[in-house]
Amino acid sequence: MAFESKIKTIEWVNNISRMIDQRILPYEFKTVDIKTANEMYTAIKDMIVRGAPAIGIAGVHGVALGAIELAKIVQDKTTFLNELKKIAEYLKSSRPTAVNLMWGVDKQIQLANSISGSINDIVDALKENSIKLENEDIEINKKMGDYGAQVVPKGATILTHCNAGALATVGYGTALGVIRSAYAKDPTIKVFADETRPRQQGARLTTWELTQDGIPTTLITDGMCSYFMSKGMIDMVVVGADRIAANGDTANKIGTYTVAIAAKYHNVPFYIAAPLSTIDISIKSGKEIPIEERSHDEVTHINGDRICAKDVNIINPGFDVTPHELITGIITEKGILKPDFTTSIINAFKDN
Ligand code: MRU
Repeated sequence: MAFESKIKTIEWVNNISRMIDQRILPYEFKTVDIKTANEMYTAIKDMIVRGAPAIGIAGVHGVALGAIELAKIVQDKTTFLNELKKIAEYLKSSRPTAVNLMWGVDKQIQLANSISGSINDIVDALKENSIKLENEDIEINKKMGDYGAQVVPKGATILTHCNAGALATVGYGTALGVIRSAYAKDPTIKVFADETRPRQQGARLTTWELTQDGIPTTLITDGMCSYFMSKGMIDMVVVGADRIAANGDTANKIGTYTVAIAAKYHNVPFYIAAPLSTIDISIKSGKEIPIEERSHDEVTHINGDRICAKDVNIINPGFDVTPHELITGIITEKGILKPDFTTSIINAFKDN
């Protein structure tokens, strides 16, 4: 049975959040039980769970865990809601770029504030919502997959960057969801996966997922994409997103921008696959997207081994922003948004 259909990356089970430990894949497969909001903060920051929609659900679970803890020590409802808000802000500060985290946490806080009953009623509602939003994530990904599959040419070789798969969501994936749906219709399609330095999500996670599903996958290093495009060996690019501004500018894993420039030069269609929860209509352009600066060890070391001189300077932004002009379309659960994105994004939100 295919990997995507048997495993949930993150799941609410008996008052805990159970998640696949993505730090140790593909060497070891293990799940971790997260029992407190504090543990959730660390799980997101240390990337036990990663990928925008997955950390959105981690935020949802984190608020539910915080509410369970608070209900044991606080009796007054106003105090409870105030303290829950503080936990929510703390969870949101764990990683700055993927807006799904803020979306998930805010959804829970809005729900908590809307409940007229007791503290226990609020806790029950937050727990139920955790399961509801998990299931919705998979449904949304499948819808995106169906839309996206329509623009995959017959027998195409598709390049993807980072991991926007089942592991980056609750299940099925965004960019890899498009690939899964396309492959189900046309088993002659193939994938090229960028390694994605520094954390190698492409090598460690994307190849692990896709090969388990039997989808033919070739691993390349990040600098190779232009070479293969120039040889006519890539027909399309599809990647995920961490935050999309109102004009379509898109933050995704560092290196995505380079792929987009190469795709434009070689006339290769470049698609983003992301749910509407990744679109931040409160910001006009990508200039306003906060870019996470991560630990220098990610660059200086691979698997604990130093790969460079000791005194070299390091800089490690986790994401870059692809300008909207380089994007052919944004595949969402509401269909494929086309330029001009300012208009198509507003329209997608109209009946939401
Ligand atoms: O640092 P990560 O691994 O959380 O970055 C993940 C990405 O950049 C993904 O491409 C993005 O979150 C989309 S996931 C569907």
